[in-house]
Amino acid sequence: MTKKIITLLPIVFMIFLLQSFLNPGGEKNEEYIIIGWNDLGMHCANQDFSKLTVLPPYNNLNAQVIKRGNETNWPEIVTTGMNVTYEVPGNTYSVGKTNFWDYEDQLFGVNLPDNTGLTGAGLSGDMEINGTHFMIEGVPLTPYTDNNLTTEDPYQLALLSLYDSQNNLLATTQPVIPVSNEINCVSSGCHNSEMNILYEHEQEGGFNPNNTPILCAECHSSNALGTPGSPGLESLSEVIHDKHKNHTNDCYKCHPGPETQCHRGIMNQLGMVCQDCHGSVANVAQSIAQGREPWLEEPNCGAVECHGPDYAEEPGLLFRQSKGHGGLYCSACHGSPHAILPGNDRDNVQNVALQGYAGILQKCSVCHGITPSGAGPHGLFATSVEEVSGELPVAGLVGVSPNPAGNHIKVTIKLEQPTRADLDVYALNGQKVVSLIKRRFPAGQYEVEVVTDMLENGTYLFVLNTRDGRSQQKVIISK
Ligand code: HEC
Ligand code: HEC
Ligand code: HEC
Ligand code: HEC
Ligand code: HEC
Repeated sequence: MTKKIITLLPIVFMIFLLQSFLNPGGEKNEEYIIIGWNDLGMHCANQDFSKLTVLPPYNNLNAQVIKRGNETNWPEIVTTGMNVTYEVPGNTYSVGKTNFWDYEDQLFGVNLPDNTGLTGAGLSGDMEINGTHFMIEGVPLTPYTDNNLTTEDPYQLALLSLYDSQNNLLATTQPVIPVSNEINCVSSGCHNSEMNILYEHEQEGGFNPNNTPILCAECHSSNALGTPGSPGLESLSEVIHDKHKNHTNDCYKCHPGPETQCHRGIMNQLGMVCQDCHGSVANVAQSIAQGREPWLEEPNCGAVECHGPDYAEEPGLLFRQSKGHGGLYCSACHGSPHAILPGNDRDNVQNVALQGYAGILQKCSVCHGITPSGAGPHGLFATSVEEVSGELPVAGLVGVSPNPAGNHIKVTIKLEQPTRADLDVYALNGQKVVSLIKRRFPAGQYEVEVVTDMLENGTYLFVLNTRDGRSQQKVIISK
């Protein structure tokens, strides 16, 4: 008997270890959720600062904490009494992965402790409260994990942990903290060396190629770094794009990059390229010459030729600054710019954990605890869209079940090509009752789960319009 217990002990211990591995930090309290995201979708940074510097290691994370709703309470965005910590598991130091800390005093006039960034942030610590969200700015992360100092890992997962004032762990999440050193002046085969670039620069306005290290933004203003630059001199974005406009229109020659592929997510999957939103290299420079503020005036999702006013940013604000449904940032549901969900496997980790599948955070109950009967984000009703496998025989609105339906109904659709899909419910007299879906999808098969609270008993037409054509089905609602 005693012997049996002893032989079992290691197994029990292993199960315990496995459990703490699968559920780091132990039990989660389902009352709260935390959603995190990176502000830009990609941060590039130089690795070698000895000669010239475009951008330092400087990563920003944001998060919102939601107290889940239930039958009687709406969900609530909370900050008071909460503490959020950040870390990047597997990436605990940066000194040696870059020589930034050998040059930060000459470049930025500050003497920083090792592994501390320009704002004082380290590679782990507490996030700060800013309005209705938590944030940490200037995390000096490199794309090299502790275990691999040679190959970039540009899409590492951060770990954000939410604690109450008694230090109980309430929830965790794992957003991508993207960083790349793929600034390709030399590696793209364009310039022989960084010194070569400096020798090509006109020796005017105090520019001396031998006075290294050189911060380009010291003389050419940069809104990314907040440097005012020399009076009268063009911004870094204007001179760099203008200088290269006749040499290349390939953004990945400088932005990260052929390896990193920073433009990912649904926009990329649907075939859009940088130029579709930003114009050519020449346009980027020209628009600044004509008054555009680099970094602060960028394309809008809500432009009429794009998604229109129903899906717009707040007036005068960028996507990353705008809030929508319930006071949540657009990014809380859609992810970061250039990584609009569904993104790559790492980008998708957070929403798979929150709602069970990748894509826009759209499952109402994740925040509401229940499925509310009113209209949700963008005035849309509770529909959850999940990609399904198998091979359906026909395109369009394949089936509706059950029919007659009660409070729930499942609509199966098949899209032969990437397309915008509009799924609307009409009364038999031809009047539209509600819109269930209006958005773009990759080709595929989807199951749309509809909560029918907004439909009274009766007979309706469910109509699907896509690039493949129009299809419809008569549906009886009987609750
Ligand atoms: C000490 C100040 C100073 C620094 C630092 C500096 N520049 Fe300049 N840069 C200038 C001045 C002044 C001009 C304008 C020269 C002229 O009239 O064409 C200029 C012009 C340029 C131009 C336009 C040249 C052309 O032929 O049109 C480019 C491109 C440029 N700089 C890039 C850079 C880059 C990249 C860095 C960082 C490696 C940098 N600069 C750092 C002062 C500076
Ligand atoms: C679907 C449209 C779209 C495409 C495609 C796109 N961008 Fe953007 N880009 C935006 C929007 C919108 C912003 C402003 C985002 C914000 O800051 O809220 C932006 C901002 C930027 C910025 C400023 C930093 C930032 O995120 O605010 C850079 C740099 C940039 N884009 C480069 C690129 C490059 C390089 C590509 C291609 C590899 C690209 N973009 C593709 C829409 C797009
Ligand atoms: C020759 C290198 C190079 C090429 C090619 C290039 N960029 Fe850039 N780009 C830069 C650098 C360097 C910065 C950072 C400027 C700063 O720090 O202010 C930048 C910044 C930007 C920004 C943010 C500043 C702003 O003007 O709003 C956008 C947007 C941008 N690039 C878009 C593009 C797009 C789109 C393309 C391709 C059509 C492209 N770039 C091609 C080097 C390049
Ligand atoms: C990421 C979290 C989140 C998701 C997902 C979400 N909601 Fe909400 N919702 C909120 C928050 C926060 C509020 C604000 C409650 C308040 O006003 O106090 C809210 C408010 C509402 C309200 C009250 C009216 C209003 O607009 O303020 C309705 C109705 C609603 N949501 C419906 C939905 C539906 C339907 C869905 C799914 C299609 C949904 N929500 C998805 C967080 C969420
Ligand atoms: C609570 C989550 C939530 C928030 C916050 C939110 N959205 Fe959405 N958004 C959605 C959902 C869900 C859909 C998809 C609707 C559907 O299924 O048709 C959507 C659709 C969109 C689309 C249409 C995509 C397409 O395929 O045509 C755009 C554009 C968009 N949102 C932009 C924004 C902007 C800009 C903001 C911030 C001002 C924002 N959203 C805030 C949940 C959200």
